[in-house]
Amino acid sequence: MNTNVSNDTVRIFDTTLRDGEQSPGCSMSPQQKLVMARGLAELGVDIIETGFPASSESDRQAMALIGREVRTPTLAVLSRCLAGDIEISAKALEAAAKPRLHVFLSTSPLHREHKLRMSPEQVLESVRKHVSLARGYIDDVEFSAEDATRTEIDYLIQVARTAIAAGATTINLPDTVGFTTPEEIGDMFRRVIAGVADVGGADKVIFSAHCHNDLGLAVANSLAAAEAGARQIEGSINGIGERAGNCAIEEIAMALKVRNAFYSFGTNINTPRIVPTSQLLQRLIGMPVQRNKAVVGTNAFAHESGIHQHGMLRHRGTYEIMRPQDVGWPDTQMVLGRHSGRAAVDARLRALGYLLEEDELKLVFEQFKNLCERQRVVGDADLQMLMQDAAASD
Ligand code: KIV
Ligand code: ZN
Repeated sequence: MNTNVSNDTVRIFDTTLRDGEQSPGCSMSPQQKLVMARGLAELGVDIIETGFPASSESDRQAMALIGREVRTPTLAVLSRCLAGDIEISAKALEAAAKPRLHVFLSTSPLHREHKLRMSPEQVLESVRKHVSLARGYIDDVEFSAEDATRTEIDYLIQVARTAIAAGATTINLPDTVGFTTPEEIGDMFRRVIAGVADVGGADKVIFSAHCHNDLGLAVANSLAAAEAGARQIEGSINGIGERAGNCAIEEIAMALKVRNAFYSFGTNINTPRIVPTSQLLQRLIGMPVQRNKAVVGTNAFAHESGIHQHGMLRHRGTYEIMRPQDVGWPDTQMVLGRHSGRAAVDARLRALGYLLEEDELKLVFEQFKNLCERQRVVGDADLQMLMQDAAASD
């Protein structure tokens, strides 16, 4: 049990419709975004980022559609630190029951020099000016220090202090390029939170993690950030997002649920809605997840090898750490194929109503093995055919 953090809830900020949608092959029409937003609300995410209204008419329309209908989660939109963007975002948010304006600016030396061409002082001044401008429109303002994990820590603390003084209510410290490690990001959050303690710290504002998956560490890094005090995790369904994607919400939710004895905080995610929401997104954008994707891949609760199937038939806990129904799958799948053993074939035949004696089973199992030389998976219809053939040769 981790005793360093209090027992509470980590808010899930869903950016499927913004960071996810802006990645190659994932774009959605306003109507598709509305359908997805309905699914996200049912899933129980706390905040939905609907898009980047200043970037397109389509995102403005999406925000209007979603705002009219999706009233329970907070609705956020992204905005650069530009007065024009903030004005457009504030206007788009008029449709929302619970609006959040999310402004961002890069803070790392690399981005300051090559992307923004701004000095550290100019960045601080822009943060102050634009966060307070956003607060003039909306009470709930999130500030993101883009590329936070590659920013000098003392400067990052200055940025956070500036944003808090200007009225930010959430401070997001993104790992924009998926570069950090769990230990490093934990250290960053602890130091920034300590660095703003005298101005209210984590009691006054919510700290947020937004991790990209370039090194496959987005979920691990988000968990480490939460252990260090972050109480909002940003991510997307199926982990879609720029390049290798964002932290996968289904993985975070299940990590916190399955390991709840270790983590003293959880999420509001209605976990049986995970698979339906994942499949909704796969259909909407036409991008299937890989079969072995954690939680939502079709192999996540499927077993083919004889040893595993035998173990599972005796006790599910042998090879499953969560129940498929807890994430929205109907059941575990025992896939019959070349690696399967007699016990699994017998169990499937019994489920189909064939109660075989030992010698009969031996013969049918031989036929089953022959069939596996010709096809990868043996389904119920194949088994029934084998039984018919066996009966005919009697
Ligand atoms: O990855 C990132 O830094 C972002 C910010 C705009 C929040 O997506
Ligand atoms: Zn991002």
